[in-house]
Formats: sequence, C-alpha cells, structure tokens
Amino acid sequence: MSSIVLFGPPGAGKGTQAARITQTTGLPQVSTGDMLRAAVKNGTKTGIEAKKYMDAGKLVPDSIIIDLIKDRVQDPDAVKGLMFDGFPRTIPQAEALSNIIEVTHVIAINVPDERIVERICGRYSCGSCGIVYHDTFNPTKQDGVCDECGSTDMKRRADDNEDTVLQRLSAYHEQTSPLADWYDGLGILRNVNGDKAIDEITKDILIALN
Ligand code: AP5
Repeated sequence: MSSIVLFGPPGAGKGTQAARITQTTGLPQVSTGDMLRAAVKNGTKTGIEAKKYMDAGKLVPDSIIIDLIKDRVQDPDAVKGLMFDGFPRTIPQAEALSNIIEVTHVIAINVPDERIVERICGRYSCGSCGIVYHDTFNPTKQDGVCDECGSTDMKRRADDNEDTVLQRLSAYHEQTSPLADWYDGLGILRNVNGDKAIDEITKDILIALN
C-alpha cells in the first residue's frame, strides 16, 4: 500500500492537481478541507467545532483531524493507498499518519505568497462534481456551466476572502511549512514549481511520482 501527500500553501493548487493525479494513479483523493466542509454543511458536532477555526483561517485542532483520518482509512477503497490533499498540516498530524499508513511520496507544490491571494479570491467550484475553476486562470469554457458535468451550480467558499487568506497563509508558514524539512529528512519529499501552467505542473508531479 503506497500513499501520496500533496503539500503546499493555501491556493497552491493541491485540489486542482489532486483531481488530475487521481485519474492516473487510481488513488482516492482525501481532502481534509472537503471533509470538514461536509461536516459543517451537515451540522455535525465536528462541523460545529471546526467552523470557528475555518472561518478565522486557523488550523482545526489535531485531535479532530486525526480522528477524521482514522475513520477514513477504514473505508474499503483505502486498501491500495490514498492521496492526501491538505493533510497533514502539523508535525503531530504527520506523526499520527505515519502510524496509520505508509507515505511513499510527498509532493510540495511551491508558490510564492504574492500569487496566493489572487488565486484564492478568484476561485469557484462546481457544487455538483467539485471541479475547481478560477475567474481568470482557469474559467469554465461556457460561462457558469461546469465543463465536467454540465451543472450550473457554481459555488464560492466562505473562507475565500482576503482577510482569511492572509491568516491561512500565516498558519501555513508557522505550523505547516516545517513539515517540508520533516519529510525531507525521511527522503520522500519532492519539490515542484507551482507557479506555472496547470498542465505543466501535472506533468512535473507525475515525473516526481515516477
Ligand atoms: P483547505 O480546503 O484544505 O484549504 P487550503 O489548504 O487553504 O487550500 P485550498 O483548498 O484553499 O487551495 P488548494 O491548494 O487546494 O488550491 P486549488 O487547487 O483550489 O482547508 C480549509 C480550512 O480547513 C483550513 O483553513 C483549516 O481551517 C481547515 N483544515 C483543512 N485541513 C486541515 C488540517 N489537516 N489540519 C487542520 N486544519 C485543517 O487552487 C486555488 C485556485 O487557483 C483555483 O481557483 C484554481 O483554479 C487556481 N489555480 C490552481 N493552479 C493554478 C495555476 N497553476 N495557475 C493559476 N491558477 C491556478
């Protein structure tokens, strides 16, 4: 069983690339951000607790996240491995993951801070199939109609505003970026330039994954 971690700042393109890489590797995408948004939408105890942190652009406590992942790896489709998008984000999360599943590749998608706000504030996604678009960099071919499934139900995230993005970036630099050295020390970190065209980055990631 081999698993992949996609790692990078908010707006680096983790979700965009995960949707593409999963088609090649067959590994199911596991996004803790998506899991938390589903919990918020469903009004679960986890969702109610997590929302306070998400709205403020802060990381949700490790115990909540680790419990979500422990449940997720029990699903039958996890048998061949998973592709984690936005998890782990702290050293305790990475340590917990190492006790649950073997991570063979960590792909760091590197994007300079000055690109992040424009990426996040222009993001929208299909409310039906979840594909992510951007007003300028990656729009739907037909205005407001999803290229993948034809839905016209386009959504913007509540935390995609400039103030929250700056807080999320700060949480990334303080709590998440040290993970790069942690995984480098294990010899499984691969750096990819995320400040390029989406297709080129996909190619670079596939090369990094062999
Ligand atoms: P989460 O949903 O994971 O948000 P994030 O990490 O802030 O990452 P994003 O989803 O914003 O960005 P992305 O890298 O996926 O970029 P995307 O592909 O969409 O987490 C949300 C919140 O949940 C966190 O703030 C935290 O509170 C909580 N949380 C989640 N996981 C947690 C954990 N493990 N521990 C604790 N708390 C946790 O791309 C962004 C935009 O750019 C899109 O519009 C896209 O079309 C465009 N784009 C993509 N690539 C390119 C490119 N190459 N060029 C131009 N535009 C591009």
